Amino acid sequence: MSKTSSKTLISPYGGTLVDLMVTGDERQELLARAIHLPSVQISARSVCDLEMLATGAFSPLDRFMGKADYERVLTEMRLKNGTLFPIPIALPLDESTLPNYAEEITLNDSRNNTLAVMQIEEVYHYDHQREARLVLGSTDPKHPLISEMVRWGKVYVSGKLKVINLPIYHDFVELRLTPAQVRARLEAMGYSKVVAFQTRNPLHRIHEELTKRAADEVNGALLIHPVVGMTRPGDVDHYTRVRTYRALVENYYDSKRTMLSLLPLAMRMAGPREALLHAIIRRNHGATHFIIGRDHAGPGNDSQGKPFYGPYEAQILMAQYAEELGVQPVEFKELVYLPDEERYEETTKVPEGAPILSISGTQVRDEYLAKGKTLPEWFTRKETAEILQQMYPPRHKQGVCLWFTGLSGSGKSTTSEILTSLLLERGRQVTVLDGDVVRTHLSKGLGFSREDRDTNILRIGYVASEISHHGGIVICAAISPYRATRNEVRKMVGENFVEIFVDTPIEVCEQRDVKGMYARARRGQITGFTGVDDPYEAPVNPEITLDTVNNDAAQNARWIIAHLEERGFILPVSNNHSDGEKSK
Ligand code: ADX
Repeated sequence: MSKTSSKTLISPYGGTLVDLMVTGDERQELLARAIHLPSVQISARSVCDLEMLATGAFSPLDRFMGKADYERVLTEMRLKNGTLFPIPIALPLDESTLPNYAEEITLNDSRNNTLAVMQIEEVYHYDHQREARLVLGSTDPKHPLISEMVRWGKVYVSGKLKVINLPIYHDFVELRLTPAQVRARLEAMGYSKVVAFQTRNPLHRIHEELTKRAADEVNGALLIHPVVGMTRPGDVDHYTRVRTYRALVENYYDSKRTMLSLLPLAMRMAGPREALLHAIIRRNHGATHFIIGRDHAGPGNDSQGKPFYGPYEAQILMAQYAEELGVQPVEFKELVYLPDEERYEETTKVPEGAPILSISGTQVRDEYLAKGKTLPEWFTRKETAEILQQMYPPRHKQGVCLWFTGLSGSGKSTTSEILTSLLLERGRQVTVLDGDVVRTHLSKGLGFSREDRDTNILRIGYVASEISHHGGIVICAAISPYRATRNEVRKMVGENFVEIFVDTPIEVCEQRDVKGMYARARRGQITGFTGVDDPYEAPVNPEITLDTVNNDAAQNARWIIAHLEERGFILPVSNNHSDGEKSK
């Protein structure tokens, strides 16, 4: 980490760039003292925020916000001294984790590495609904930050910070530069203007066009500055993205005026307000201009299916504050491809009646990558297409979690046993996590209280998510009676979660009573038995519902196979004689 020049660098508002890193003897002394201080673990988001504070990326902010700053940021987008700052950067903690009388604590990451020492000056309660309403303009839990806030600690903590260690990374180390380092490299390029580009997505041809046009327009250097901290859930992972950025910058950009650097920001997906924060951050990295296109930092659609912000709201807000920020926006309307003219153009400038082409992010995944179809060259460079294809294999090579839920004796285990054979026969790897079996090892010792049942299901869910994320098919067969817990597992697994409701009426299960459990439950010999004296919450919208009264287990297993085949998770038999390679 170069430290020498950072103290003298100018922040957007005229002061010097904040630098919270302690070095030399002071660091040694602090390290020795830190061992004896009470420690608290902070979230992955707070680790990102801490790094941004430490290196001056959030200048002039030099700490997690105290109450006065926080309040004014919420209502006026200003710190208590009047400086424009659009988003609260605060440290949520659980009061119970705070030591009673300590004035100093260490802030540790999830692996308990000590990052910083904080002198506690303020601990204050906040209302996350109010914060969401004021900053995000919504309280709809469909907003990814709002659903996350619910789980945050209930107080914000603030005070002077001394940072001993920045988070350590082992990936793309040469691209992880502090604001001071980025400024130094940009300066060496010799341009008086620098235009920065923010992104959380793979870059395709339109983005290449957008960035090159912007650099030409301002006649300056170009800083490609992707976020690798936290982005929108479901985004392409940063390892894959950075590989595409690197290939692109190496092969298609002018190396004398372009630089790529990674930003450890935790995005809020706050649309317009976030655009202002992005501009401040880039100004701190030496940019004079900042690209804002369509739907900047957009969180997707709300519960009504409507976008949270208008497509150009961020441009409007940015234009309003550009002078004060000292960063000029470079605006673009939505860019599309004109196949007849083989060029890219903003939708507002497309000649009337000219055909246009575009492929959405969802289409990239579902219609190209998932089907093993190569992305066209007008859309993306071949290097990008190849990297994406490697990381996002076609559906028949992706992992899936097949989650059976239903009453005891409904037929979950029997059906899953037959299904396992059919999948193995089709050349897929299968792991079975059967409720009864799991309780003999992974969940040994857990009982049937609500809490223990949840722990059991979440454990199965965790293992299932690991397996499915690494390309395997996992079949889980446990009663899993509670809807909320099943939904938690659905979230852990992600989009390839297939909920299979074994819809056998309780009378039928009880009549079969294979293990004699219902009889014992009715006699009161066992309590808390699902369907007898503990609830079973049927799935609301399962991917598959099995009728076990009119169909036998083998028919149901084949029905599931048909569903998986239809969705592309297994190949039709005729194409499946080799190793499943369909197209190259
Ligand atoms: S963001 O959440 O980081 O803003 P993304 O990586 O998709 O998302 O976009 C980065 C920048 O490129 C934003 O300024 C966005 O407005 C702009 N952008 C992305 N796609 C287009 C497009 N098709 N037309 C115009 N601007 C775009």
